[in-house]
Amino acid sequence: MFRAAQLLRETKRAVAPRTSSSPAGLIVSGFSTASNFQRLAGKVAVITGAASGIGRATAAEFVKNGAKVIIADIQDDLGRSVASELGPDAAYTRCDVADEAQVAAAVDLAVGRHGRLDIFYSNAGIGGRYPQDDAVSVDLDNFDGLMAVNARPALAAVKHAARAMAPRRSGCILCTASGAGVVPIPALAMYSVSKATVIAIVRAMAEPLARHGLRVNAISPGPTRTPMLLREIPLMAEQSPGLSGELKRMVEDDGAAGDAAAVLEPEDIARAALYLASDEARFVNGHNVVVDAGYSVHKGAEAR
Ligand SMILES: NC(=O)c1ccc[n+]([C@@H]2O[C@H](COP(=O)([O-])OP(=O)(O)OC[C@H]3O[C@@H](n4cnc5c(N)ncnc54)[C@H](O)[C@@H]3O)[C@@H](O)[C@H]2O)c1
Repeated sequence: MFRAAQLLRETKRAVAPRTSSSPAGLIVSGFSTASNFQRLAGKVAVITGAASGIGRATAAEFVKNGAKVIIADIQDDLGRSVASELGPDAAYTRCDVADEAQVAAAVDLAVGRHGRLDIFYSNAGIGGRYPQDDAVSVDLDNFDGLMAVNARPALAAVKHAARAMAPRRSGCILCTASGAGVVPIPALAMYSVSKATVIAIVRAMAEPLARHGLRVNAISPGPTRTPMLLREIPLMAEQSPGLSGELKRMVEDDGAAGDAAAVLEPEDIARAALYLASDEARFVNGHNVVVDAGYSVHKGAEAR
């Protein structure tokens, strides 16, 4: 999350997103976007939370790679406009992931429309209310709300996607967890628990799904330049009493003392999802793919 402060600074400075002329962009365009090889040709996907941010970028990447995508979200106007931008291979449906019946209905829509479901990406999520790091006044209603939108839908996705996929013994479920589910962020303590639960669900359900020939994997992004992050950082900075001094200083100083940490783009996560959803990952099951430029493994070293 220290890097999230860098993102806030960058936004203030209106730094343009990476282009394909950057070294990273060159590698990426050579691998997945500049070729006519479609890694998801003929596959059908449902992506929750796809009206915005990571889900939206993943929907675009999947369509580019030959998939038909159902965008499932609660932002109807935005969802419809994303679907129309992506063309005839994308469609929008309203789906509140906190309601199991609506998750089931999104699965049924994909099967009804396209005759099959190959990929279900449980990605929708929220940050919750703040503060989350005041131990003596933990808001359990906030906790329940976070679990209802961030964690329980991962299990609903497993259940209903497996129902549709098991007869063909083929399919893949993805769940967006978070770097905060790997290394908890105190200012996001309740959110961190909800995301650690997503990782636990993926690990626990990998073997039961494998019995049906199916896979499930989590993706844990580090701070990623999306509308959610741009909303959450100022809220956290205002309301979290225990917010780390370093983050506070970075936000307040507008990064004057900053670091050189990476800022992720939604497309960085979308490309991880593309790999996991493709047949190239056919033996990858039960993993949590952390896409955070190594932050979760070197955080301890940074703190010294
Ligand atoms: N941006 C980051 O830094 C970051 C880091 C780690 C994990 N994540 C996770 O990535 C996922 C995507 O977040 P994002 O950053 O793209 O944020 P975002 O706000 O841009 O997108 C989230 C989408 O989820 C939708 N959504 C929220 N509640 C919903 C509900 N009940 N039912 C259906 N849709 C709902 C929103 O309408 C929105 O379109 C989330 O699970 C988030 O927790 C984000």
